[in-house]
Amino acid sequence: MTAMALQMEPGPTLVDDRVIQALAAPPMYHQSAEFAEMMDETCELLKQIYGTAGEVVVLPASGRGAVESALASADPVDRPLVVPANGTFGRMMAAIGGSLGMRVVELKHDSGQPLAVHDIEAELDRHDKPVLGVVHNETSTGMVNDLAEYAELVHRRDGLLLVDAVSSLGGTAIDFDDLGIDLCASAAQKSVGAPPGLAFVAVSERARDEIEGRRRPPLGYYLDLLRWWDQWVPRERGGRLKSGYRRLPWTMPTNLVVALRRALELTAEEGIEERWERHRRTGAGLRAAMAALGMHPVAPPGAESSTVGAFRLPGIDARTLRRRLAQRHRVHIAGGMDGDAATVIRIAHMAESARPGPQLHTIAAVAYELSALGVRAATDPTRDFLAAWCAE
Ligand SMILES: Cc1ncc(COP(=O)(O)O)c(C=O)c1O
Repeated sequence: MTAMALQMEPGPTLVDDRVIQALAAPPMYHQSAEFAEMMDETCELLKQIYGTAGEVVVLPASGRGAVESALASADPVDRPLVVPANGTFGRMMAAIGGSLGMRVVELKHDSGQPLAVHDIEAELDRHDKPVLGVVHNETSTGMVNDLAEYAELVHRRDGLLLVDAVSSLGGTAIDFDDLGIDLCASAAQKSVGAPPGLAFVAVSERARDEIEGRRRPPLGYYLDLLRWWDQWVPRERGGRLKSGYRRLPWTMPTNLVVALRRALELTAEEGIEERWERHRRTGAGLRAAMAALGMHPVAPPGAESSTVGAFRLPGIDARTLRRRLAQRHRVHIAGGMDGDAATVIRIAHMAESARPGPQLHTIAAVAYELSALGVRAATDPTRDFLAAWCAE
């Protein structure tokens, strides 16, 4: 896993060796019965980590492809998109809506600022059938946005709730059905623990009805979610199979699906709740270690992400630190986004990077380089990591 370099950027992240080994097989014919079985098993496992009994569409795309396909499929021309954006990926969702010709209302927040529910409600009141788009886990700031209140607000106005869970799915509870989410986009390469190249959209009954009842052709052909029901979902599961038999709407990258299924099997073996807990404890450990080094999370207390830590540096240029970590230790961490490249570092704790081994290696290298740059640790950061990791 770590033979080449320690890849601690927030995705693509470290994956289990058994997932890498699953890639090494001949490609399969994507319309074969054998591959259909593989897809069905993969989708069942995906439903478990989403917390849904409904359909999860698998797309040959990256995370933003899933966000775009969700928006483009749901009759976007008449619908306003309200996006409370408190980070890079909220702003990206607004830009995707704009590129599709939606009327986008971006509720601007500073990066890392909690979302203002009252402002969101007031904005939703101004629109008919809005789509409310929320990023669950802002990878740019290491901040989690609480999803609890939004479904009710938006459904009262006949709207849909779209959630970007690209960096949280698999590492943080989503509870798609219980929370009343309508469309939830995610991808393989972060907390799900698989290689990049596949993305997913979980779709509620309500969203599916809206998509089916749309009055206009979708914006685009390739990633139109309705194709999944038209071509792939059997009639007994609510599909529409126009030709009468199942055919995947796209040529699937079959090796990636095999690897994804392996990752999801390993997640099922671990237990999804145990996995969320592992991510949470690793995040707490990393924050304790960084505090010993004088670094504090960009996210406000209580809203720290379970899958990525973003920290402000104590008077050192983050680019210098990252360069030294890469050159001298082969430890690769990310910098801040949106103008924060010099002041913020980001360290993943997702999938296989959410374990003491890679974290302690990274923390030791950060402490060593900070010390060389004149920053002394207040306490032992590796000890502080372990104390927090072992605490509960
Ligand atoms: C929260 C979030 N949304 C969307 C994306 C975009 O995903 P992708 O780069 O796979 O298109 C990312 C990528 O980091 C992300 O973290």
